Amino acid sequence: MTTRILVLHPNLKHELDDTKRAPEARLEEAVSLAAAIKHTQVVDQQIISLEKMMASTLITSGHVENIAEQVHDQEIDLVVVDHELSPGQQRNLEKAWKTKVIDRTGLILEIFGARAQTKEGQLQVELAAMMFQRSRLVRSWTHLERQRGGLGFVGGPGETQIEIDRRLIGEKITKLKADIEKVRKTRKIQRKARKTVPYPIVALVGYTNAGKSTLFNALTGEGVFAKDLLFATLDTTMRAIELDDHMKVILSDTVGFISDLPTHLIAAFRATLEEVEQADIILHVRDIASPHSEAEKLDVIETMEQLGIDTHKATHIYEVWNKVDLLDETEQTKMMNSAERHEDIIAISALKEQGLERVRDVIVSHLKDVYRQANVTVPYKDGDVTSWIHEHCSILSREDKKDGVHFELEAPPSTIQKLFSMLDIEFVPEKNEEEDQDRVFSP
Ligand code: GTP
Repeated sequence: MTTRILVLHPNLKHELDDTKRAPEARLEEAVSLAAAIKHTQVVDQQIISLEKMMASTLITSGHVENIAEQVHDQEIDLVVVDHELSPGQQRNLEKAWKTKVIDRTGLILEIFGARAQTKEGQLQVELAAMMFQRSRLVRSWTHLERQRGGLGFVGGPGETQIEIDRRLIGEKITKLKADIEKVRKTRKIQRKARKTVPYPIVALVGYTNAGKSTLFNALTGEGVFAKDLLFATLDTTMRAIELDDHMKVILSDTVGFISDLPTHLIAAFRATLEEVEQADIILHVRDIASPHSEAEKLDVIETMEQLGIDTHKATHIYEVWNKVDLLDETEQTKMMNSAERHEDIIAISALKEQGLERVRDVIVSHLKDVYRQANVTVPYKDGDVTSWIHEHCSILSREDKKDGVHFELEAPPSTIQKLFSMLDIEFVPEKNEEEDQDRVFSP
């Protein structure tokens, strides 16, 4: 059965000063989040302008009445109020509208619940949900409906829910925290195992709807060497692609960023973004045609900072200005010129597959900067090392001589290190390579 949703964005006048985005855009974002939940249909959407917040229902009684009618007429099953609601407000609105109501936190938790695929991701989202529930202790989500893949806020039993004991929630929280700790420990071990990830990681991050998945598909599409890499430990979609002779990278698509992420959800969000912290290159995909492009960029940067990435100092972050095809000619030229002047900006249309060559070039030249050159001779008896070199290194020259195959090659330091150990050659890390060892992938 499809859940029929009405999305409301209460726009409070006094909040206007702090908000960077127009109410229309905020409503649109809430709608696209709601639409992302499986088995739902957004039937209607509305901005509600308010002079001030009402203690009991957030919005005025006039609005409450009008919406009650609408809920009835349009057979709405769920009202999403794109704002924080106190437990009392939520309860009063549910009573007045005789339907289920969730607020912004509930909506985001629902999305994360559906997206988080790692054990830790799921536990973090569940923990956030429990903390959220404890803070309000109104309704029980003990009948979490798992079949939707989400947390069940949307599909829950609504008005008939029973209150449950604060103690039970407390116990559940303690258990979840212990479970998370356990998973973390296992992950540390797995991370070591991840050293088997064969290529550098390029993570695509960006605001929801910026075009990350479109770019991901364009770069991994037909005619491109692309191999699905499914790691049990990862939430993100990952594929290995070949960029130019022998240079292969893992492209990683991530969950979209959302504006004003409630602070208590950051841990849950972060758990879905572990790859970004470890990425060798971050491509920050932006919808450059969006009227709110700048505000969206700031949101993404702020969130990356919260993830512990120093965006000012980092040299491995590139901005990808996407959707240039939507701009008029003058704007397009302006953007293109501006992008050309900046090494760390690439203007593209993922949809029209324009500018993808530059994306590939930028990745290649970035990686080449951290690449190291080496000359090795592989004895003919070590044929397996020769094929390993072809698989993992960029070969600058190859010559078959008497004593074996002479290679002039380049690869990340960790790859060279591995190769040297295969050939029993001593590897001396160069300055700054040692501290990079953790971030640089290993073969
Ligand atoms: P989330 O999964 O919500 O984080 O979104 P995303 O960043 O992965 O965006 P996605 O690739 O799903 O694209 C969002 C919408 O923008 C889709 O309708 C795409 O077709 C459209 N789109 C993506 N790239 C371009 C582009 O270069 N030009 C135009 N005109 N539309 C684009």
